[in-house]
Amino acid sequence: MGVFRESKGVVSRQGQAQRPAGTYEDQYSRHGFAGDQAMLYRRHPATAWARIEGDFRNTVADVRELELPDATDPRALPTKLMYNDDVAVYASRRSEPMPFYYRNADGDDLIFVQRGTGRLTTDFGPLDFQAGDYLAVPKGITYRLEPDSRDNIFYFVQTTGPLGFPERGLLGQYVPFDYGVLRTPEPRPAEDADGGEGAEWEVVVKRGDRLSSIFYPFDPFDVVGWQGSTAPFKLSMYDIRSISAERLDIPPSGYTTFTAPGCLICTFTPRPMQSDPDSSFVPPYHRNVDYDEIAFVVGTEGEQAGAGPRDGTLYLNPQGAHHGPDANPFSSAERPERFTTYLLNIDVERPLTITSAYESHARDQQEQA
Ligand SMILES: [Fe+2]
Repeated sequence: MGVFRESKGVVSRQGQAQRPAGTYEDQYSRHGFAGDQAMLYRRHPATAWARIEGDFRNTVADVRELELPDATDPRALPTKLMYNDDVAVYASRRSEPMPFYYRNADGDDLIFVQRGTGRLTTDFGPLDFQAGDYLAVPKGITYRLEPDSRDNIFYFVQTTGPLGFPERGLLGQYVPFDYGVLRTPEPRPAEDADGGEGAEWEVVVKRGDRLSSIFYPFDPFDVVGWQGSTAPFKLSMYDIRSISAERLDIPPSGYTTFTAPGCLICTFTPRPMQSDPDSSFVPPYHRNVDYDEIAFVVGTEGEQAGAGPRDGTLYLNPQGAHHGPDANPFSSAERPERFTTYLLNIDVERPLTITSAYESHARDQQEQA
């Protein structure tokens, strides 16, 4: 942290509360929301620019409008939307089971089920899934995604380093979820493991974004038992119990579900909105200068994930780009009683490269507003 804590001019001594009249907060933050911070008090919202020239923009796209080949081609793989050396984000509308087994040797796969039901079969055994589930597959473990519904949306987050969980520290064992809610597979070897003369089973392997296929004369899902400290697992976002504060907005990193080198993966879940009238009820305008922020709208309280009108909306805020609330963060008239949205938020340290699949459908966030 910094070696000084200065206050100059017209300020509040408590960020995100007791805002001086006629000012708008602009939060400048290093290392996400966990490093050095400065709150600037401006006379205008930091996002109230007249126009931008160049490609430095906050963008938004609707995943449901993207052309994703695996919607109709079972052999197609998820479509990459954006990536850096640590993280790659893909979307998939797979409507049929993979006609092969698949192994990602480029990193761990975290699959989020926005819409759909089915089964993820793995070396370790199967995991049934439904909307709202995270399915984590450590690097190099063979799996097959087998939806039993046709109209599906999946997001894949590939992390080069291993996926883990954030330190909980003084919050203890049960926040934001009890590790007891994680589900790991029971071994279930294929029953017809020998398909007869000439039968083959294909394992597609991705390494360095290049595909190879390994063919076996027997079903390689032949594991009869496993033991150890790593395995595929499932976590439902409905089992996450986010922390909240009556008097202050919790920064996104407070909702971190998974970590990986260069990346935080956060889940926002419904909760009471801050009710203290002197506190902001949404984050201030900010520029998260050390992270690119990706956010998927995945559900609304009381509705099944993937069913709402905004579900599938994808926001990208590059590091250093001001963004913030549509509403006045301190307005008592606009302050709802609850935050009712489920969001998947991915913050990455290294700047992202976006692919044509995303760029071709991306619009300026201000245009959308
Ligand atoms: Fe942000």
